[in-house]
Amino acid sequence: MMEKLSAWEEAYRSVESMWGLKPDHILLEYASLIPKGNVLDLGIGEGRNALFFAKMGYEVDGVDISQTAIERCIERAKKTNLKLKAEVRDLKEVDIPQGRYSLIIAAWVLNFFSKRAAEEIIGKIKNGLKKDGFVYIGIFSLADPGYKRAKKSLEVVEENTFYSSQRNSFFHYFTREEVLSLFADFKVIHYAVGTGLDLSHGEPHYHGFIEYMGQKCK
Ligand SMILES: C[S@@+](CC[C@H](N)C(=O)[O-])C[C@H]1O[C@@H](n2cnc3c(N)ncnc32)[C@H](O)[C@@H]1O
Repeated sequence: MMEKLSAWEEAYRSVESMWGLKPDHILLEYASLIPKGNVLDLGIGEGRNALFFAKMGYEVDGVDISQTAIERCIERAKKTNLKLKAEVRDLKEVDIPQGRYSLIIAAWVLNFFSKRAAEEIIGKIKNGLKKDGFVYIGIFSLADPGYKRAKKSLEVVEENTFYSSQRNSFFHYFTREEVLSLFADFKVIHYAVGTGLDLSHGEPHYHGFIEYMGQKCK
């Protein structure tokens, strides 16, 4: 019998490159602030952000649930002679060593968990950062068109969290206040809430987004 592929694995297998090579614009903008050391990319995808930091001399680790994404990421690193450690792992099962990282990236991934699971991962991120380390989180907000669609068609399992049996995934949409309150003990470096047209993959489509970059002060 053929194995049933996860939705992410299927999506990666259907294209040669899903997200391209250009790093997230917020990471480009604030890269000079990040102390040299270790970077962790949660939901590394094909490595557009991780490779950028590897190129700048950071020691980069990353995890993703898709085997194809991880293979692509390792292949890209080999082609450009860069070193990084990328593994297939479910973020829910990842342990982050305490105080290890100068930067932890969770770019456009925390929406694919329940509210509670996303908060647990954020707790691990906070604990895994060095003092003065940075976190970057890109997530979809209640203004995302996906939120409206989910409200119409999916089962609500927690506040602003839906479950799709078709994709076997949770979808949690964040409020403006939620991220700031989860990082209330961090210094805000960048906080932006907006709506924009996404031209990076597939047909042009809108997203409601929150970009947060913060620094651990204590
Ligand atoms: C929207 S993509 C973003 C990829 C990458 N962060 C970027 O910005 O290019 C979301 C990524 O999260 C990964 N992902 C989804 N659920 C995951 C899970 N439970 N554990 C680890 N990775 C997961 C997907 O495979 C996908 O690569």
